[in-house]
Amino acid sequence: MSQESTGGGMWGGRFGEAGHPLFRAFNDSLRFDYRLAGHDLAGSIAWADGLRGAGVLTDDECGRLIDAMKGLMREVAADPRTPLGGADEDVHSWIERRLTESLGALGKKLHTGRSRNDEVATALRLWVRDEIDARLGELVGLRRALVAFAKRELDTPLAGYTHLQRAQPIVWGHWALAYEQMLSRDAERLRDARRRVNVCPLGSAALAGTTFRVNREAIAAALEFDGITANSLDAVSDRDFVVETLGALVLCALHLSRLGEDLIVYSSGEFGLVAMSDRVTSGSSLMPQKKNPDACELLRGKAGRIIGAHAGLCAVLKGLPLAYNKDLQEDKEALFDAMEQASMCLRVAAVVVEGLEVDREACRAAAAGGYSNATELADYLVGKGVAFREAHDITGRVVREAIRLGVDLERMPLEAMRAVDGRIGEDVFGVLTIEACLARRDVAGGTAVARVREAVAAAERLLGEESENAEGAEGDAE
Ligand code: ARG
Repeated sequence: MSQESTGGGMWGGRFGEAGHPLFRAFNDSLRFDYRLAGHDLAGSIAWADGLRGAGVLTDDECGRLIDAMKGLMREVAADPRTPLGGADEDVHSWIERRLTESLGALGKKLHTGRSRNDEVATALRLWVRDEIDARLGELVGLRRALVAFAKRELDTPLAGYTHLQRAQPIVWGHWALAYEQMLSRDAERLRDARRRVNVCPLGSAALAGTTFRVNREAIAAALEFDGITANSLDAVSDRDFVVETLGALVLCALHLSRLGEDLIVYSSGEFGLVAMSDRVTSGSSLMPQKKNPDACELLRGKAGRIIGAHAGLCAVLKGLPLAYNKDLQEDKEALFDAMEQASMCLRVAAVVVEGLEVDREACRAAAAGGYSNATELADYLVGKGVAFREAHDITGRVVREAIRLGVDLERMPLEAMRAVDGRIGEDVFGVLTIEACLARRDVAGGTAVARVREAVAAAERLLGEESENAEGAEGDAE
C-alpha cells in the first residue's frame, strides 16, 4: 500500500481513508526533517545489526539491508535534498519506503522492535552531536582570530567604558581576550551538553522498551554513543538535550551580539576608533558616503532569533504528558534554523575580527582624554596617606577645575592642582600617563601589557589543546 492511497503508508491496515491534504501539510515533517536522513540511516544500520544479534535477521538479510541503506546514504550525501522528491510523511517513512521498494518484504523487517519514537530520538541526538562538533570547530576559528587580533593590538590603548562613559584606559588586546573568554565558556557549555546528548535511545521502542533481545550497549557503541538511555519513557520524550544545546547557543549568540555592538559603536563616526573591512560592510543606496556595519548588526539581530528558538521549545515542552506526543516534532525547525544561524554568526564574526583596522592615534587620544586617569590621581593621594574617600573627593574637585581650564589632568599646571590640595606634588605627572595607568593594572586578569601578553599565551595553549581534542575542529574562519 503506498502512502498516497492512505496518507500514511507506514501505519498500515487500520486506516481506510487517505489523510486530508491540509492535515498532510500540517502533519508531515519531511520538508524539514529530510536533514536527518544520513543520521537516521546510521542509526538504522546499527539497529539492523542489533536485530541480527537478536536472531531476528539472518546474516544475509542484515547484509542486504545494510547494503541498501549504505546506498541511500550515498544518495543523500550526494544530494541531501533527495528525500524531498518523495511524498512521505517524514524522513523515517521515506527510508522505509525506499528499502521496501528495493528489498520487498525484507525492507519491512527493519522496523521490528523499533518505533519512530526511539528512531527519531536517536537520529536527532546523532545530528545534534555532529552540529555541536561543527560549532566547536567554528568557535576555535573565531577564538583564534580574536587571539591573533589581541597579539596585533597587544598594547594599543583603548578607552575602557562603563555606562558607555570613558572609565579607565585598557588595551585592545584585553578587549579581544574578554570575548575570547566568553567564547571559551560557550565551548565548554557545548562540550558539557554533548555529554548528555551522547546516549543512545535505541531499544526504547515506542515507550515501554523493545521485546526483542537486542544488545543495546553494542548498538550504542557502534554509533559511538557513550552509553544508553536508562529509562525508555524518558528516552522517547526527552528533549532536554535540545533545550540545553540551544541554551548554549543562546549565550554564544548573546556574546556575539555584544561584540557586534561594541564594534558598531567604536566604528561610528563619533567614536572613530576602528574601521571594519569593506568585506563585511555595505553601502547605502541613497547616501554615497555611508559604510554600514551590517555584519555586526546582524550578529546583534540573529541573537534574537536564536533566543526565540530556545524559548519556543521550552514552551512546547511545558506541561507535555509522557511519553511521545506529536508536539515533539516541533523541536526540529527552530533547532535546525538556530544551528544554521549560529554557524553563520561564528564564521562571519571571525571575518569581521580579522578585518578590523584600529586607528591607533585616535584610540590613544580617546583613551587619554575624558579624565580617564582620574583614578590614578586618587590612588596617588592614597599613596600620600589620604583616605580613599577623601582622595576621591579631592580628585573630583581637581577634575572640575581642569574642565573649567579646558585641560587634561596631565597638562594641568601643578599650581592649579595644589590649589585644590597641597599634598599633590611634581611626582604626580609620572602616574598620569596612559603607560603608567596601564602598567599599574599589573594584577592577574588585569590590563597591564605584560599580563595581556601572558593571557595571549594562555589562550593559545588552551586553543592548541582543544583543537587537538576536538575532531572536526577545522576553524574555517574563511
Ligand atoms: N516525524 C516525527 C517527529 O519528528 C517522528 C516520530 C513520529 N512518531 C509518532 N509516534 N508519530 O516527531
